[in-house]
Amino acid sequence: MTYNEHGVTATIERLLEDHGLTGALAPEQLNLLDQFHAGGYAALDRTIEPVSLGPGDRVLDIGSGLGGPARRIAQRTGATVRGVDITEEYTATATYLTERCGLDALVSFEHTDIADHHPNLPYTAAVTMHVTMNIADKPAWYRAIADRLVDGGHLVVWDICSTGQAELPLPLPWSIDGSDNFIVGVDELRGAITSAGFDTIEWVDESAWVREWFETTFKDGLPPGPGIAMWLEDGFTRTINIGVAQAAGDITIVRGHFTKSTAT
Ligand SMILES: C[S@@+](CC[C@H](N)C(=O)[O-])C[C@H]1O[C@@H](n2cnc3c(N)ncnc32)[C@H](O)[C@@H]1O
Repeated sequence: MTYNEHGVTATIERLLEDHGLTGALAPEQLNLLDQFHAGGYAALDRTIEPVSLGPGDRVLDIGSGLGGPARRIAQRTGATVRGVDITEEYTATATYLTERCGLDALVSFEHTDIADHHPNLPYTAAVTMHVTMNIADKPAWYRAIADRLVDGGHLVVWDICSTGQAELPLPLPWSIDGSDNFIVGVDELRGAITSAGFDTIEWVDESAWVREWFETTFKDGLPPGPGIAMWLEDGFTRTINIGVAQAAGDITIVRGHFTKSTAT
């Protein structure tokens, strides 16, 4: 089982304190701690850039983790963001960090599967980053996202795909033992999204950008400050394994922008 850590909020509190981060927080101070995907908040900025989000938007973040992407969206655009995630510990920690960042008027989290999430109003945009590798039935999952969007609403994704050239080493950031690893190739992933009623606006291989981000970010070893590997079970091994797979060209990082087809 992955995402099985206990006492995440207490661990994060301690890590922040150990790094002198007491009192109010700025989301940027959490960049390598709460952006649970390759590329930190720069990747989030890249992912939402094609959509002109603003204060009138209602954004759904599916698989919101510790809430880094949701907070960054709200901070940058003024949009209201709802994060949903099946891991209760993570939604609790996301809520805690959001309060410490003073963003709780705009950002909230719910411990739920997307299928059981029933918003009062449909969302104008949805974002999902590094979750689809855990999803077995991808067409059904993207269909559930489409059902919660206005017609013409945006979906932006930042995901990892397999190039199919090698088996990925375990543990991975999204799977400890492989039983919940449902990574697919880029064509299959895009097919799952479009089969759920989305039209493709952009579908871009971002592997080179991510490689450069890794090289720049970790050129002097671990940057100062708290990091994901410090709170995640077996975090350092999982991070190293994905770094090695990335360097070997065994994964592709893909960014996509879709709109909900009005014909569905
Ligand atoms: C690698 S983390 C990414 C978190 C966040 N999107 C980010 O980029 O910081 C994957 C997240 O997906 C969540 N997750 C896995 N399967 C899910 C599902 N079926 N529905 C919602 N969330 C899911 C996990 O609990 C975890 O928080």
